Amino acid sequence: MVNKITVVGAGNVGATTAQRLAEKELAKVVVMVDVVEGVPQGKALDQWESAPIEGFDTRVLGTNGYEETASSDIVIITAGIARKPGMSRDDLLNTNAGIVKQVSEHVKRTSPNAIIIMVSNPLDVMAYVAKQVTGFPRERVLGMAGVLDTARYRSFLAEALDVSVEDIQAMVLGGHGDTMVPLISYTTVSGIPVTQLMDRKRLDAIVDRTRNGGAEIVKYLKTGSAYYAPSAASVQMAEAIVHDKKRVLPCAAWLEGEYGMSGLFLGVPCKLGRKGLEQIIEVELTPQERTDLGKSAEAVREPMSVLKL
Ligand code: APR
Repeated sequence: MVNKITVVGAGNVGATTAQRLAEKELAKVVVMVDVVEGVPQGKALDQWESAPIEGFDTRVLGTNGYEETASSDIVIITAGIARKPGMSRDDLLNTNAGIVKQVSEHVKRTSPNAIIIMVSNPLDVMAYVAKQVTGFPRERVLGMAGVLDTARYRSFLAEALDVSVEDIQAMVLGGHGDTMVPLISYTTVSGIPVTQLMDRKRLDAIVDRTRNGGAEIVKYLKTGSAYYAPSAASVQMAEAIVHDKKRVLPCAAWLEGEYGMSGLFLGVPCKLGRKGLEQIIEVELTPQERTDLGKSAEAVREPMSVLKL
């Protein structure tokens, strides 16, 4: 375990993330920060009171300031507003950019060696804001999107094929929006290409459902967006870092020439270990997948270009 993990934002995603981190004992201390007085303190205390039942010794603390977060090993940023029905992730752009900018300044000052995992949306652009404001190297700024999008894709496939989720290997690349790119050519069930098990029409319907997976939940919830799977995905990334597992997971990473692109965060296969991003793995793509990834990159660059930092 590491010494300290901070979760910024004690809302649905943040609080669920903190609880999962504590239950897995990934840090000695988990600190939750939020601007609303009392909420991080109350939720943290409630979580700590579950420790004797769940059997974890990770201390969970809540605060409205950053002094308690000092020298965090990992900072997971979930602060911001969430989507309501009819809103795209890009509709959150200016509000969340202001919040993420302010949070990143605090992180830079109090935890200059931290690894940042961005969760706030629009994800790829918010990761860019954090990187610009902190000046951290790309090894230490990652965005959580691909793990979540891939989990959604895998859960839909498992259901359709009536097989265990554990046996579905897949990767969803690109931006965290409806242009994301589920890689059918790399989707297997225990190594068996999924195209041998399912016709193309059903597969396309699942790809489409994956692209709109976030919106499907927003439509049900009406007052907010998903948080169980997003928190699980963030914690999987943190776990890979804390335990130096060298896991290969699709994450939003700052590209410097990989996949022929530079100067943006985009979902690509990343090796995660104790140093954060340890390698971006370039896989062969079909011409269609390459075109789709390019389109997805354009969809990320567009909001980046109107962003005022
Ligand atoms: N510093 C810290 N916390 C903040 C700040 C700030 N400057 N501004 C807002 N917050 C807090 C809010 O007070 C709230 O408790 O962020 C929390 C957000 O929680 P929710 O509204 O429950 O939203 P949530 O579902 O957790 O989503 C948070 O993650 O998945 C993304 O799109 C989602 O951008 C959204 C983010």
